[in-house]
Amino acid sequence: MSTNHDSFLFPPQASTFAKDVDSVYYFIHYLSIFFWVLIVGAIVFFVWRYKRGHKEGVGPSHSLPLELTWSIIPLVLVIAMFLWGFKTFMYVSRAPGDATDIHVTGAKWSWTFEYPNGLKEMNELHAVIDKPVRLVMTSTDVIHSFYVPTFRNKMDVVPGRYSTFWFQPTVLGPQQVFCAEYCGDGHSEMLAKIIVQTQEEYDAWMKETAKEDTTTPLPELGAKLFQSKACFTCHNTDTSAKVGPGFQGIFGHEVELDNGTKAMVDENYIRTKLLTPRATTVRGFPPVMPSFQGQLTDREIDGLIEYIKSLK
Ligand code: CUA
Repeated sequence: MSTNHDSFLFPPQASTFAKDVDSVYYFIHYLSIFFWVLIVGAIVFFVWRYKRGHKEGVGPSHSLPLELTWSIIPLVLVIAMFLWGFKTFMYVSRAPGDATDIHVTGAKWSWTFEYPNGLKEMNELHAVIDKPVRLVMTSTDVIHSFYVPTFRNKMDVVPGRYSTFWFQPTVLGPQQVFCAEYCGDGHSEMLAKIIVQTQEEYDAWMKETAKEDTTTPLPELGAKLFQSKACFTCHNTDTSAKVGPGFQGIFGHEVELDNGTKAMVDENYIRTKLLTPRATTVRGFPPVMPSFQGQLTDREIDGLIEYIKSLK
């Protein structure tokens, strides 16, 4: 993995426009420091120089050349800031026509990515180095924000509408995604990784992932899915509650539901919770479990059942 550390105040630059974003920032930043020093310096100088002895009505009342200077120079600088900023903003806002579209769904508290071939991944997105990707994003509940510091891009993810976000990665390896809009208890854990790979690595990964796993023993398959589908974001593998109930010893026991009835945690219960999770909710927990409909094969559901069963 190679990283790029040419930006001295910021995280590494890992997208095509990261350098441009940083350049605009540094221009405004250093210009502001220059004028701060100049203005504060002048104030201090005049306070000290004229602290006494100044006589009312002595000296020039105005100076046209001086007034033009301090009007025209800042005007030119502000226009330069605007033009440079706007040019960079348009670059960051508009995806190139040949970008691959990936659908992204933000939900409390996970990110789901759907590839053009229908493959879905949770909290992990694979991308190819030097190839543009356009994310078409929406939310199932509240406003989230998709933020990748190393790409220098951030976009709100809003229920009931689409927003877009694009990037062309320039560095191999994982890039961290954060949710940057406060969205409740699990906000700080609403994380994802963008795995930037070579075309060969990506093709191999896609081939391996699209193929159904028929050899891993069920409890082991379930344990893997517990990680890759990010179940751990909301469920502990001991008895302690997190966003949802802890899984240790839950299998074969009754839970009290919010509609006042009781349910036995068995194979059918787990399957229903995975596919239509919000039909019922365990009393005392928020109804935030995302549906895994279309994301898990029957064998994978069996794997998760056997894994939960194994947590005695
Ligand atoms: Cu989603 Cu904060």
